Amino acid sequence: METGGAGLGPGPGRTRGPRPGDRFCSCRCFYTDNIFLEDYKIHVRDSGPEQRERELWPILRSKGCKTEEQFKNVEAKIDEEVQRRTLLGQRCLERTAIISTCYKPLNPGVYVLQGYFLAPEFLEIVAYCRSRDADFEGLLNCIQSLAAERVYSIPVFTGEFCRQFIEELENFERSDMPKGRPNTMNNYGVLLNELGFDETFITPLREDYLQPIASLLYPDCGGGRLDSHKAFVVKYIINQDLDLSFHYDNAEVTLNVSLGKDFNEGNLYFGDMRQVPISEAECVEIEHRVSHGLIHRGQHCHGALPISSGERWNLIIWMRSSQVRNKLCPMCDKKPQLVEAVGLGDGFTLEPLEDGQQSVDVCALN
Ligand SMILES: [Fe+2]
Ligand SMILES: [Zn+2]
Repeated sequence: METGGAGLGPGPGRTRGPRPGDRFCSCRCFYTDNIFLEDYKIHVRDSGPEQRERELWPILRSKGCKTEEQFKNVEAKIDEEVQRRTLLGQRCLERTAIISTCYKPLNPGVYVLQGYFLAPEFLEIVAYCRSRDADFEGLLNCIQSLAAERVYSIPVFTGEFCRQFIEELENFERSDMPKGRPNTMNNYGVLLNELGFDETFITPLREDYLQPIASLLYPDCGGGRLDSHKAFVVKYIINQDLDLSFHYDNAEVTLNVSLGKDFNEGNLYFGDMRQVPISEAECVEIEHRVSHGLIHRGQHCHGALPISSGERWNLIIWMRSSQVRNKLCPMCDKKPQLVEAVGLGDGFTLEPLEDGQQSVDVCALN
């Protein structure tokens, strides 16, 4: 793989992707917490009948859920979402297998990251971050600070790449291939791992380009040790998803790149970190320029305003640090209870390996 015009190949001693022995997991709360109820625009937890009575129903009553039918409706929505999550890993494997054998890409070239996909200014920023004397202050001179705290705008791709990438995603959408939903809040979009972008595109983008930036911007959030990700493209269009409610991401650091196409309004807004009660949050609106990325802490609450016309496509990369999340799951605020997962799971690891430490070969012990 060509990694860019600025000589940014993997440095000596660096490894590509998860290290042998790393086994990525999810937290058990995936099956009980953060269930989004579209009708009430809230995330809820559901861990059995007793907790529903004590915790969940009072919250819903306060949000205007009154009749038996409305409660039944909520129950059905929750059960459906839990069922979807339970089957998610298996379905994902099935879809990935079908796509990899049957899907004919329109632009096969866009699946392998090339330096010329990236904006020259982005390559300069990364080259600076990888230089010996790089520091936070110096980086702030080459990226745009925004009104929201620790949110920055950086040029990422060339316009031509954005165009070809969207063209490829539209081709996939038009195909009869099986499609998963990007997450619980977006109904329209593409899961990039299932389409085959993970190893050849997103992983090198994260490791070789984004991590050097994140390690200067967010060392306190695991920015220097981002070892997995979840990447997807979301699409907002009139008559489908128009906006995105206020939320935080299941990530330590998020990159959100505006890919186009033509659209009006639909800015992002940021509030406070999730630890701050929402009633105290004051939101700041941020303009998002096409081909630019907004980089922010995953736990920084944000949302997207409705577009008024056109189509808005965004590439979202949730970057995760097992070192950070193994201590505290950001979705349930507890030490994660690890459960097996497909692929990179939710970025927790069973055996966090320190540099230089040997992994244990489980087979050798059996
Ligand atoms: Fe988000
Ligand atoms: Zn959890």
